[in-house]
Amino acid sequence: MQDYFSQEENELKKSLSSALAEKINLLAKLYGEKKITLDEIALILGIDRNEIELIFTQKGLVKKKKILVCGGAGFIGSNFIYHLLEKYPSYEIINYDVLTYAANIENLRAAEKNPNYKFIKGDIADYEKLEEIAKEGINAIVNFAAETAVGRSVHGKAADFIHSNVVGTHTLLEIVKNFKIPRFVQISTDEVYGTVGLEEDRQFFEDSPFLPNVPYAAAKAGGDLMCRAYYETYKVPVIVTHCSNNYGPYQHPEKLIPHFIFRALGNKSLPVHGDGRHVRDWIYVRDHCEAIDVILHKGEFGEVYNIAADSEKPTIEIARLILNLLGKSASLINYVPDRPGNDRRYSISAGKVGNELGWFPSHTFEEAMPKTIEWYQHNVDWIERIKEKDEEFVNYI
Ligand SMILES: NC(=O)c1ccc[n+]([C@@H]2O[C@H](COP(=O)([O-])OP(=O)(O)OC[C@H]3O[C@@H](n4cnc5c(N)ncnc54)[C@H](O)[C@@H]3O)[C@@H](O)[C@H]2O)c1
Repeated sequence: MQDYFSQEENELKKSLSSALAEKINLLAKLYGEKKITLDEIALILGIDRNEIELIFTQKGLVKKKKILVCGGAGFIGSNFIYHLLEKYPSYEIINYDVLTYAANIENLRAAEKNPNYKFIKGDIADYEKLEEIAKEGINAIVNFAAETAVGRSVHGKAADFIHSNVVGTHTLLEIVKNFKIPRFVQISTDEVYGTVGLEEDRQFFEDSPFLPNVPYAAAKAGGDLMCRAYYETYKVPVIVTHCSNNYGPYQHPEKLIPHFIFRALGNKSLPVHGDGRHVRDWIYVRDHCEAIDVILHKGEFGEVYNIAADSEKPTIEIARLILNLLGKSASLINYVPDRPGNDRRYSISAGKVGNELGWFPSHTFEEAMPKTIEWYQHNVDWIERIKEKDEEFVNYI
């Protein structure tokens, strides 16, 4: 191979890298003596903190952090696991999921190749099973595990929602308390705040009252309130997030955007509830993951953070956009009777996480929606396999 560098340049490179190695060793010594923090070292060396953490983990100075991701086989959880594996090579990720109909372990195939990833099948309401994991030492828990399909909660399955979203969250809080787990992030929804009128100039903030209108939202609110109570009573290190509607890869086709996409791809009608003017605030799932990452590392215990991308859209607009981008006729839109308890509009302010922790979304709806549609277009088999596994899900939409 041709040598592009002169001998002097090679010498210079060698001496610079040995000077850097010497500096790192000196800083590592100071770190070992607790005289300097990883953030300060990153600043001195002008290197990303994660890189320093990785070097120090390899040197045996920093223990690998173990993050227990509950519900990691679902939509947001699997995106979050990829986010962590990509960004934190010094972290070990345990995906703990009971694998309900909504889970798709196939989403994690690429992660399975990573030695930092491990899957354990289990229910978040199973204290004994969680105890076995907690005994091994866990640095943080991020809880995505929940029953999430509003339609199911409305059509007779509310008890499952109470089990996972309330009893499950309570069980995790007990584990965090009894095993002194240093951090617990509970992932929740903007739906706990209830609805806002289309014309109203009003948003929900972190201290807005909970006014859930469907069993799903009520069960999430129950879990979130339990988090608050455990912080107030036992000072459990818990943080709660409320995010708006997510879209992106790996979402179960029972949810609005993938449902519309796969119906449109098959030239089938798009069922739009009521007058189609129900408004949701849409966020790209990887922006949500980035926000959770920031909250996990910098959030204050006992605090609540709203997460949203300031991108409110009526359902009919989503339907039209999908048909337009797929080159399908608008005549596929089919208005169907509204779902009971269907909230008119969600609108939350994400000002706090921006002002206090410096998180802002980096994808616009206009840029991330076409990417999302493309992902589903290229993964039609993925959708077909879900449909084969569970034909029933269409009954709850
Ligand atoms: N999808 C959204 O738009 C959205 C928006 C805001 C907040 N959230 C919240 O984010 C979290 C994740 O949502 P999602 O859309 O990825 O959900 P999802 O339905 O795709 O995945 C949920 C996962 O949790 C698992 N699970 C359910 N009950 C469990 C239990 N008892 N024990 C262990 N695992 C269990 C399921 O098997 C599944 O893998 C939920 O808590 C939801 O309330 C979702």
